[in-house]
Amino acid sequence: RNMSNGQKQKVLVTRNVPQAAIEIIKSSQSCHLDYWNSEDPIPRDELLKRVAGLDGLYCLLTEKIDSELLDAAGPQLKVVSTMSVGYDHISLPETTKRGIAVGHTPGVLTDATATLTVALLLVTQRRLIEAAGEVKNGGWGTWKPLWMCGPTLTASTVGIVGFGRIGIAVAQRLAPFGVSRFLYCDVNKKPQSVEKLVTPNAEHVDMDTLLRESDFVSAHTALTLETAGMFNKDVFSKMKRSAVFVNTSRGGVVNQEDLYEALKSGQIWGAGLDVTVPEPLPTDHPLLSLNNCVVLPHIGSAEESTREAMATLAARNLLAGLAGESLPAQAKL
Ligand code: DGY
Repeated sequence: RNMSNGQKQKVLVTRNVPQAAIEIIKSSQSCHLDYWNSEDPIPRDELLKRVAGLDGLYCLLTEKIDSELLDAAGPQLKVVSTMSVGYDHISLPETTKRGIAVGHTPGVLTDATATLTVALLLVTQRRLIEAAGEVKNGGWGTWKPLWMCGPTLTASTVGIVGFGRIGIAVAQRLAPFGVSRFLYCDVNKKPQSVEKLVTPNAEHVDMDTLLRESDFVSAHTALTLETAGMFNKDVFSKMKRSAVFVNTSRGGVVNQEDLYEALKSGQIWGAGLDVTVPEPLPTDHPLLSLNNCVVLPHIGSAEESTREAMATLAARNLLAGLAGESLPAQAKL
């Protein structure tokens, strides 16, 4: 064994990630790298073993970073760097209490996720999955005036719940389709300069107004104690019966039983989900039995260069944390 490993900082990467990130970590020369180089998540018991004595942990949203894990790691742990913008899987009260820096990957996946959101909205609204299925199963009879119709996007009102980086980018992408109004809910009203980024502009409204007036409702909130389960029976009952609901944030913001009922009973027209609870969604889940619900396997940021940018930003966060420097992108409580 190399004696110099004793001085090296111990790092664990919990999954097969883009090679560029591994190169960055290796190039620092000061790390001893343990690499769970697999397509599948590291089992919890294996993770708890391997974190012991770590200085830095590079993880994904599949790893729950809680007090049990931080205890197993030990007091020398300096940094947890997740290859995701969301950090609801990391207990920030626990990391903060222990003085552990947490890195995440905002910004680099905004465009990819916003584009996927628009794609999912269009696929749901124009019933593309259902329609393509009809071609294959013989359901395509002849051209019919009333067949495969969905609600109209042009001149519609779009409601964005959570008007941050991704919510704004979604509105910017939808504006050229001729959407007439953008309504948004956020903790705070954004400055007019931000509202104007969306043509002609976006209006800050209360949630009830957004739900009552929107033809499309898109969720872009972080998953927090305040947003968990917020899209519930009450919320769906305030939407238009013609409304399309889209969620590319976190499955946990939706009460899925209530969503199922709303879709089944026609309380809302349709839904497109890129995120669910659990993930993967079991193939016999009731939501998958509905024609008016499109479910994608959490692919919002799945573009090659986007994933590479996320992975390398996470690597730079990790190295900065190990060096005791401020992180390029630090998650805050
Ligand atoms: C994230 O980054 O939080 C996404 O869910 C995965 O891209």
